[in-house]
Order: sequence, then structure tokens, then C-alpha cells
Amino acid sequence: MPVLLHIDSSPLYGRSVSRELTSAFVTQWKASHTDGTVIERDLNATAISPITEEWVNAVYTPEEARTPEQNKLLASSDSLIAELEQADEYVIGVPMHNFGVPSVLKLWIDQICRVGKTFSYADGKPKGLIIGKKATFIIATGGIYDAQTQMASFNFVEPYVRSLFGFLGLTDVTFLTAGGTMALNYGQDRNAFLAPHLQAVQAHLAATHEKLL
Ligand SMILES: Cc1cc2nc3c(=O)[nH]c(=O)nc-3n(C[C@H](O)[C@H](O)[C@H](O)COP(=O)(O)O)c2cc1C
Repeated sequence: MPVLLHIDSSPLYGRSVSRELTSAFVTQWKASHTDGTVIERDLNATAISPITEEWVNAVYTPEEARTPEQNKLLASSDSLIAELEQADEYVIGVPMHNFGVPSVLKLWIDQICRVGKTFSYADGKPKGLIIGKKATFIIATGGIYDAQTQMASFNFVEPYVRSLFGFLGLTDVTFLTAGGTMALNYGQDRNAFLAPHLQAVQAHLAATHEKLL
């Protein structure tokens, strides 16, 4: 039974472009995976603590030697990693905030990057341990950061996410970007703006589904 992990990180809910596009992805994914299940992980509705010294100490304490307090400190990280392991596929909504990823997404990333669990350093070489998953990142940015534009070097979202998840072992990764959402604040029609991006989601899923058949 296929499992999709759906993650959102926009605080704007009804106004959010990334949420609307990940939601369209989920609707279409469900239609083509009638036996599938979706794990919903809304990072704006999830309390995730920042990393502390105690947390780091717990991570680097061998599992069998951890105290009950240390296990408690790692419980949230353990369950967020379990969601990644349980799912075959991920769709992750990423709004650009201050040229990078939203702080709630970074808090989640800090909890799921765990030595020995999601990556290892066997023989001094990094090795990703999240293997065989398919991920689609749906990015929304107020400005436009296309390659070759003056603003391209300000885009720390896609390069960061691509490198990070590559480090964790993901190789089947797709980025769909809705750039220039700022136009919506200046009167551009929302449906007209979203139409090509909804189409891109649909085309990506159709192509993915064909590959699976
Ligand atoms: C706190 C905050 C910071 C933002 N920083 C940037 C930025 O650095 N560059 C940019 O192009 N747009 C920026 N924006 C605009 C968002 O990228 C844009 O609204 C996008 O649509 C967000 O995705 P969402 O609609 O899913 O929330 C920012 C928006 C917010 C709320």
C-alpha cells in the first residue's frame, strides 16, 4: 500500500500558493492511488523545539546507554523520522522566506537529520540513509529567481533543499516552482496565476504515474 507524506510550511494557509499546490498534488495522488494513505504533517501546527546541548548529547549517546530523559528528548525526532521511513513518496511545500526556507521547515530539518538514522559517516564518508523515496518540492517565491536572472544568486531555497536531501540519500527529486507570487498582491487574478502551476503538478504526477505502470 503506497504511502505519501504531505508536508506544508506556509503560515498563510488559505492565501498560500505552496499549500494550494501541494493540496492539488495530494488530491490527484489519492485519485491515482486509491489504495494509498497520506500522512499529513503541517509544520505550522507542529511544535518543534530547536536543538539544544542536551539534544545533541542524547543523539551522540549510544542508543542502549540513553537515559529515559534522553529518549524523551529524542521522541519527537524519532517520530518525524518514522514518518519519512514509513512513506514511499513525499510532497513538501516550501515558501521562500528571506531568501531561504521558513523557520518551521528548518526546525523540522534539524530534527530529521540524525547521524546513524538518516545519514552516516562510515569510513569518514557521508552516506545518506533515506533510500528509494521519491520527493516533490513545491516552492513559492514572491520574486523571480530563474537561472540567468540578476536575482538567481539570492535563491537559497532550491540549492539548499537539493543538497540537504541529496546528502540524506534522495536521488528521485523534482522541484516545481511558482515564482512571482508577489503579483497576486498587485491585482493579478489568482486562478490565472495558479493555472500553469496546477498544470505542472498534474503533468508531473501523470508522468510519474505512467512510469509506475
Ligand atoms: C516572512 C516572509 C518572508 C518572505 N521573504 C521573501 C523573500 O526573501 N523573497 C521573495 O521573493 N519572497 C519572499 N516572501 C514572499 C513569499 O515567498 C511569497 O509570498 C510566497 O508565495 C510564499 O509562499 P506561500 O504563498 O505558500 O506562503 C516572503 C514572505 C514572507 C511571509
